[in-house]
Amino acid sequence: MGFSDENLVETDMSTARPPSVQLRPFTRSDLPIVEPWFDDDETSRYLGGRDWPGRMLELAAQVIGTEFRGAIQTGSYRFLANRDDCPVGLIDCGVFDRWTEYGGEDASEPTVREEPHLPTGSVTYVTNPELRGQGLGRSMIRALVAWPELSEVRLFEAGVEPENIASIQCLLAAGFRPYRSKPDYEGMLYFTLLRRPRTLLIPASRLSERQWIVTTKSRSLGESQDPWRHPMLCLVHSLVPS
Ligand SMILES: CC(C)(COP(=O)(O)OP(=O)(O)OC[C@H]1O[C@@H](n2cnc3c(N)ncnc32)[C@H](O)[C@@H]1OP(=O)(O)O)[C@@H](O)C(=O)NCCC(=O)NCCS
Repeated sequence: MGFSDENLVETDMSTARPPSVQLRPFTRSDLPIVEPWFDDDETSRYLGGRDWPGRMLELAAQVIGTEFRGAIQTGSYRFLANRDDCPVGLIDCGVFDRWTEYGGEDASEPTVREEPHLPTGSVTYVTNPELRGQGLGRSMIRALVAWPELSEVRLFEAGVEPENIASIQCLLAAGFRPYRSKPDYEGMLYFTLLRRPRTLLIPASRLSERQWIVTTKSRSLGESQDPWRHPMLCLVHSLVPS
């Protein structure tokens, strides 16, 4: 049960300040709000031009169940962040059944290295260029990590170009840590936030073993995986009277 990886240290999120932004699902009707943010040099350099948010929405409907670098995508979320009902940022999170990264041992052909077998959220974000440096990026990432539907995600990761200092500082401020000191095969630096497993306190009398397996499988593990590898499942299983 569990895993060991010297590069990953669990972050205790219980003491983090509550985010100052509120998230709501991002939809096609929000495109006119965010598209002008992509005229900004930094945004277009690191993410793309005005078509980026629209393409992201189109892809969102198609990616579930697809494989990226050996990991299966199990969820796709994107949110508009509001401060006092005013849109201030956009954040995307693709959920995968595990984390993998390019090993980069071979310059001509990247190898894929499998990292901890944990439900993983891959994060991308942008804040309104006129409102940068006000703590909104950090707050938006924290709000995403706290989003209830992402509670099964144990590991959050973000890949950043080494010269994107604003993004790196933003991730550090949100509690992420550098995963490796050197960029990968694609020249990206990865930052990760590993959080503690959620502890469920469910009276054994109200829980049947069968119910829990079905719930856990359908929500996070997928039919093909062995539910007994899931640390939380084992914890709750031990509470079930035999
Ligand atoms: C990265 C980005 C989201 C940061 O948003 P933001 O709202 O300005 O970030 P915050 O105000 O929350 O800043 C968080 C931390 O980063 C630091 N920071 C932000 N911009 C910085 C900059 N240009 N240089 C150095 N540090 C910076 C802040 O000082 C703060 O650190 P602190 O909490 O220790 O004071 C924003 O710059 C952006 O949208 N960039 C373009 C898109 C992009 O690069 N997305 C990421 C792709 S990986």
